[in-house]
Amino acid sequence: MQITRNASLTQMSIRIRPNPRLSAWSAAARSIASSSPASLFRNSLQPVAHDEAQSDSKNVRMLRMIMFGKPGAGKGTLSGRLVKKYDILSLSTGDLLRMHIQDKTEIGRMAKEIVAHGGLVPDELMLQVVTSKLDHLHNKHWILDGFPRTLAQGELLNTHLNKQNTPLSLVVNLDVPDDIILSRISDRWVHLPSGRVYNLSYNPPKVEGFDDETGEPLTKRPDDNPEIFARRLEKFYSTTSPLLDFYARLSQTRISPPPHRHPHQHPHQLAFHTKPPHRLMVQSISGTTSDEIWPQLERVLKDAFPGLKERVDSADIRRKHSLSDAIAAASVAASMPSK
Ligand code: AP5
Ligand code: MG
Repeated sequence: MQITRNASLTQMSIRIRPNPRLSAWSAAARSIASSSPASLFRNSLQPVAHDEAQSDSKNVRMLRMIMFGKPGAGKGTLSGRLVKKYDILSLSTGDLLRMHIQDKTEIGRMAKEIVAHGGLVPDELMLQVVTSKLDHLHNKHWILDGFPRTLAQGELLNTHLNKQNTPLSLVVNLDVPDDIILSRISDRWVHLPSGRVYNLSYNPPKVEGFDDETGEPLTKRPDDNPEIFARRLEKFYSTTSPLLDFYARLSQTRISPPPHRHPHQHPHQLAFHTKPPHRLMVQSISGTTSDEIWPQLERVLKDAFPGLKERVDSADIRRKHSLSDAIAAASVAASMPSK
């Protein structure tokens, strides 16, 4: 199947070339794709405004990023590549929910049926799941993959982060055509405990059917069948894609960080703004292969966040740099008796 859009980006024409392997996926997605909003298909790599950087206490501009995109666009894969190379943590709400489901927690019990049918877990519950992790991450660079997914989640997240004076700094929209996504999903295998993602043609495991790092068997995600995937794509167009306009509007707004106060300063004494105002950056990256997408993504991050450090320690590289690791490490450290 080949999907093309006309120059005005307001209409779409679909040409079908029979491909037996993809026919089930394609048929299910066709009606959904035709209702996609134009706003989703911008490609606007804009120059980066360094002077509007939001900095942490060490004056390093912090990456607080949303990896945005359709199901199967490569959010998990690219976040994984970034955290492997740079000192960044990532949090995938899909991975988190799958862990809750596997561990049969209260949240897992509530989410199980919804995820299995390609629906969306209620906003308040999701915010709770996410903020309980994010609140541990002051002065860390992080990426959110799969959250927010509704306007309400976007607004809740924004309010929460602004209250903490840790506003979002970057939204990256991965703009990948539907027909490419459909072929990827039919080839996707995952290691559920870690969230590691493989693809038989793009990044196959070293030993077919087994995870590279643990040697454990790979599985298909239960929500990766054509019918459920079509529903997820439909949910994306109807409910998630309006977030792009929300973030485009936010990117027009400057937020002034609170004025700096000395700890011993009298409350009536004047305090001054020592940091420049913050502005959210929104970037769309289009492409069909990693060769097209990865260099663009890296360039955006390197230009806008020059303080991002590459990982050097090989032991560090081998670790899974997930948010849960960082939080587990922090709680172990906190439980150690102080010297
Ligand atoms: P989630 O797990 O987040 O699923 P998703 O958003 O549908 O996205 P995917 O994980 O399917 O795709 P991806 O973009 O990560 O792509 P990937 O890197 O794997 O959520 C699952 C469910 O949880 C939801 O349906 C919902 O029910 C619930 N949920 C989660 N968050 C929620 C929220 N905030 N609110 C409410 N409910 C929520 O790549 C796909 C394939 O392509 C792979 O095989 C990969 O190897 C391959 N690939 C990737 N990049 C490339 C490339 N450049 N070239 C070639 N192949 C590539
Ligand atoms: Mg994913």
